[in-house]
Amino acid sequence: MSTVHPFDMVIFGSTGDLVKRKLLPALYYRFAEGVFPPEARIVAVSRRDWDRAQYLAFAEAEMKRFAKADRFNADTWAAFSERLHYVKVDAAEAKDYQALVRMLDSVPERVRVFFLSTSPQLFSDICAGLGNSNAVHAQSRVVLEKPLGHDFASAQSISDAVAEVFTEPQTFRIDHYLGKEAVQNLMALRFGNALFEPLWRRDWVSDVQITVAEQVGVEDRGDFYDNTGAIRDMVQNHLLQLLCIVAMEPPTSLEPDAVRDEKLKILHALRPLTGRDAITDTVRGQYRAGASQGQPVGGYCEEAGIDGHSQTETFVALRAQIDTWRWAGVPFFLRTGKRLAERMAEIVVTFREVPHSIFGDGQVSLAPNRLVIRLQPDEGVRLSILAKSPGPHTYLRPVDLNLDLAETYADTQMDAYERLLMDAIQGNLTLFLRRDELEAAWRWIDPILEAWAHYGDKPKSYIAGTWGPAASTALLSRYGITWHEES
Ligand code: BG6
Repeated sequence: MSTVHPFDMVIFGSTGDLVKRKLLPALYYRFAEGVFPPEARIVAVSRRDWDRAQYLAFAEAEMKRFAKADRFNADTWAAFSERLHYVKVDAAEAKDYQALVRMLDSVPERVRVFFLSTSPQLFSDICAGLGNSNAVHAQSRVVLEKPLGHDFASAQSISDAVAEVFTEPQTFRIDHYLGKEAVQNLMALRFGNALFEPLWRRDWVSDVQITVAEQVGVEDRGDFYDNTGAIRDMVQNHLLQLLCIVAMEPPTSLEPDAVRDEKLKILHALRPLTGRDAITDTVRGQYRAGASQGQPVGGYCEEAGIDGHSQTETFVALRAQIDTWRWAGVPFFLRTGKRLAERMAEIVVTFREVPHSIFGDGQVSLAPNRLVIRLQPDEGVRLSILAKSPGPHTYLRPVDLNLDLAETYADTQMDAYERLLMDAIQGNLTLFLRRDELEAAWRWIDPILEAWAHYGDKPKSYIAGTWGPAASTALLSRYGITWHEES
């Protein structure tokens, strides 16, 4: 396996949740695969007055909690921890950056990745601190984790602050869904096969459903979540990105701007949901007490850190329309929520019925063909087609052509962060968001938020462990269809 460029990766917020759960394990797995060049270093940064030994003890304990047991090995960890350093930096203290710069400058120039895994309120201070201490050179890059804004204006001010120090090609905005193998597979399916492309349009597609369902509640992120809600946490980023990849025109190559230009066109072509339309075409929900995986669970308002009268939504369903020649008139239904019946992410493309049936009456139903792209868990692609039932009569029934990618590639699945961190080191921006994409997504979300506030739209309650409020089913039944798992 070839190695990536020699690099230093500086992680701000290195005692936080994302680092423990995702970044450290991802870096460790890549190291274990032999992808690190010998001189690579990871520099953990936080406000805590720790020395290196303290950070290493912390990191090892967290790795034992969060890394996959079958991928953790004490000897490999010992070798990995030699690459791991620690520097205390208070984001607002100019002098703290000096120690960091001394460490970075102690080796010949190499790629520098600054990963900001802190609250976005600190992005401006951190970027200024790095800029003023001359920590940023031509081979430097900054990686930004969401939430990148609360609305269009705040997203803009974050981007402005970062742009004072880093150019746009040095700025890597993460949407971890783009790092998922299954999402890249969707591109492979669409653009690596001639089969689907001619059908991938309004003439043959009747509707598209995109669902990202979770079983977990808000876990220990109550404070954050209550000020955020499902539309900002999931729709503005992950679901709109999935929609873009499903709907975009074929890019001319996988060059970053070729792909990002096409995604941007879709975001621009989304018909704005404003005023009353935003109320009619969206459903907000909030879970109340119910059950999850057979265990009783409390309602959202009883969770730690949540205001007992909170009106924050934990579920959103909506109908989007894309005003292009390819998609005019095809509804795209998006849905996401916490404490739903299953953990499941999938895209369902339903094709139109045959124009004329030669099979006569007596058919139970001529169900339309359906392509189900399962992103997680059990990644796979399923195409339902009609076939004849065995026997003396010509009765048709749906059968599945089933491609089980999870099983086929069982040993080679990478976590999204493994891919994204290595891409950031290599300077490959294809799977990262450009500023205009981020802002276009917020421009589409803002009027929905405004309409909800203006009309006082309250979330409809649903029982934890179900598929959301009844209004979500009703949203689709207006078009004579049902959500995939209900059909
Ligand atoms: C994050 C959201 O971006 O995505 C979380 O902030 C959510 O609320 C998570 O749980 C879902 O990601 P995944 O990869 O588990 O589907």
